[in-house]
Amino acid sequence: MADNRCTVLIVDDESGSRQLLRQILQDKYRLMFAASGIMALEAAKSVQPDLILLDIIMPEMDGYEACKKLKAIPEISDIPVIFISALTDITEKVNAFKSGAVDYVCKPFQSDEVISRIETHLKLYNLQRHLEKQVEVEVNKRRMDEQMLIQQSKMAATGEMIGAIAHQWRQPLNSLGLIVQDVEDAFDAGEVTKGYLKQFVSQCMGLIKLMSHTVEDFQNFLKPSGRQDTFDVTEAFYEVIHLFSDMLKKNDISVQINTPETCRIYTTGYRNELKQVILNLINNSRDAINAGQKKGRAVAKDGLITIDISEGDNNVIARISDNGGGIDDSIADKLFEPYVTTKGEGGTGIGLYMSKAIIENKMNGSISVSNIEDGAEFTIKLPLVKPDVEIQ
Ligand SMILES: Nc1ncnc2c1ncn2[C@@H]1O[C@H](COP(=O)(O)OP(=O)(O)OP(=O)(O)O)[C@@H](O)[C@H]1O
Ligand SMILES: [Mg+2]
Repeated sequence: MADNRCTVLIVDDESGSRQLLRQILQDKYRLMFAASGIMALEAAKSVQPDLILLDIIMPEMDGYEACKKLKAIPEISDIPVIFISALTDITEKVNAFKSGAVDYVCKPFQSDEVISRIETHLKLYNLQRHLEKQVEVEVNKRRMDEQMLIQQSKMAATGEMIGAIAHQWRQPLNSLGLIVQDVEDAFDAGEVTKGYLKQFVSQCMGLIKLMSHTVEDFQNFLKPSGRQDTFDVTEAFYEVIHLFSDMLKKNDISVQINTPETCRIYTTGYRNELKQVILNLINNSRDAINAGQKKGRAVAKDGLITIDISEGDNNVIARISDNGGGIDDSIADKLFEPYVTTKGEGGTGIGLYMSKAIIENKMNGSISVSNIEDGAEFTIKLPLVKPDVEIQ
């Protein structure tokens, strides 16, 4: 039958004391013995008892020192230690607690007292271990939730990407179609000469190259940066706007970027991740502008996203604003929490949550939002870096 009893390590240099404790405790607990502080440390490390009864006066290493050493070893530092000693002076007791003990029993002792103190501390210790286990389970669960969110947002980004590629490809695909169709007519009209073929091939190859570049650009966009980098914030904004220009055009949205013309503004962090944030914000503005237009807001306006980038004392300030009608009051105070969305099936509600996580954890910055006259304005602050050497 399995022995479920708790293990108690008894440390005492006098064999008489050890025998006495054995008689009192052997029915209730699994017992182990050590005759010195050094042996106690070894035994505690190899067996990891549930509780340690420790004598104070011992040769070589006394109980206080043994206790301090036990408490300094991480894997056994939590095990409760109860001192057992003939010393009754109050300073001795204070020293015992200072060295890390949880309790103190004076010799000669009553067996009931020893047992009830051991019971109390075993219960507390088990409770503590139970709580720690629960915390660990909870932390693991959160970590898994976090992973799931990251995964979901990657999927969402991939979906966006496919949509954007479709937009970017529409025009070259149409052109390709027209060129290819023309071959037949040209043949019938006897126009297919060597020169015609040459031009045909070069036009087709040009369009194919364009399309293949688009795919490469998007593939690069999706890759995690891998390492930190010092880069021009304005450039990151331009890159995103460029990639998604066709999508924005199709939605009748124009983008205006205002930057100080003379200087470049650098930050340090993960460039691609920042670009994901920019895309999240632009997509949100696009959705807000489209939704506003559907609702037929009083003043029908052309969609406009304005991006202002400027240099603060020691940070880069990027403001992204739109004329999409602003943040709904019902979600204003929990906008950056996961799964908060007003788009029903059309949104997952993790765009801004992930954006905040990236800005705060990966870029050491901050992100905030406020409603402006006819839309929302997001403000991103990033650390400003002044490179010693101009970066190309
Ligand atoms: N520029 C904006 N104008 C108005 N409302 C906005 C704007 N940006 C965000 N919101 C509101 O905040 C909510 C949460 O945005 P978030 O990007 O986190 O999720 P989502 O866009 O709904 O879904 P997804 O996970 O697909 O991005 C949106 O549903 C929308 O109501
Ligand atoms: Mg979004």
